[in-house]
Amino acid sequence: MPLSKRPTLTQYLIEQRRRFPGASGDLNALILDVSIACKAIARQVAFGELRAGAENAGGATNVQGEVQKHLDVVSNELFVRQAEWSGHLAGMASEEMEAPYQIPGEYPRGKYLLVFDPLDGSSNLDVDVTVGSIFSILRAPDEVVASGRDVIEADFLQPGAQQVAAGYALYGPSTMLVLSVGNGVVGFTLDHNLGEFKLTHPELRVPEDAQEFAINSSNSRFWEPPVKRYVDECLAGRSGPRGKDFNMRWIASMVAEAHRILMRGGVFLYPRDSKDPGKAGRLRLLYEANPIGFIMEQAGARASTGRQPVLGVPPSALHQRIALVFGSKNEVERIERYHQDGA
Ligand code: AHG
Ligand code: MN
Ligand code: MN
Ligand code: MN
Repeated sequence: MPLSKRPTLTQYLIEQRRRFPGASGDLNALILDVSIACKAIARQVAFGELRAGAENAGGATNVQGEVQKHLDVVSNELFVRQAEWSGHLAGMASEEMEAPYQIPGEYPRGKYLLVFDPLDGSSNLDVDVTVGSIFSILRAPDEVVASGRDVIEADFLQPGAQQVAAGYALYGPSTMLVLSVGNGVVGFTLDHNLGEFKLTHPELRVPEDAQEFAINSSNSRFWEPPVKRYVDECLAGRSGPRGKDFNMRWIASMVAEAHRILMRGGVFLYPRDSKDPGKAGRLRLLYEANPIGFIMEQAGARASTGRQPVLGVPPSALHQRIALVFGSKNEVERIERYHQDGA
């Protein structure tokens, strides 16, 4: 398709909204604000060591006990500033903020909640490997909208199946925005001449079968038997029970792994393990597992804890961690069967 004929993100959203004659346009406006935050973060990331402030080490510790990079903090700030003013939000929550963010009194409050990981894979920043931002949009409870009261943690503890929209931006060789408003998954690429996201991937579907897996195997001695069985069978290749050879990838940016899987299939696992028995997994349910799970399910793939669909899990805390397996349907279902079998 010639570049000039490709819809922009704005055009795509307006055309989607025509399907719902009564819709207010608030969701579209919110998604556009998020896309502007992502463009601003893409610019910051692209400057690398030349970025004003790059010498700033960051160094504070977030609620997860991770040392924040300066760009984690800057990206969080860009999301907050770009989304707080519009009147579409009742509140926000982020990896980098321990408590829910209250919309300041100078701005109106709205009916949505925005939950985000402002920079995913930030341990890769020093080595210039692809990172991204992940976001999830939920409806605020009716009573919050009616009263306009401050949001509390419990308002955000909704199963992922209730997401209204979810997506991610990818800051790689090109900058992309991948989005679902519950009607399939579409991908946009940033046109640097226009400064606009243009529709380049109108219908993303994940192949049902795959021969590629992604897992941090340095944790293998801590894995549970079903995960060990699955990976051993992949490694056994053509002469093993799977009868085919598998390839492996590990980028350590979940958002980049999710994107690869959307493009060509595969499976990603960050299972719970015995390394730290207190933790259920590494990735966070509300702003990592749920939005990526929503995208996967909307693209015909699956997202699971190994034991149940991730989108059905009732969250118990804002920063809750969870075991996560997602990707090609038949591989995820196989991993779930191994969990049911106990190995
Ligand atoms: P974040 O940078 O937002 O804290 O998330 C990092 C996550 C995820 O992107 C990645 O898959 C995983 O951490 C990498 O974990 P390992 O360091 O254990 O490989
Ligand atoms: Mn982090
Ligand atoms: Mn992350
Ligand atoms: Mn992060």
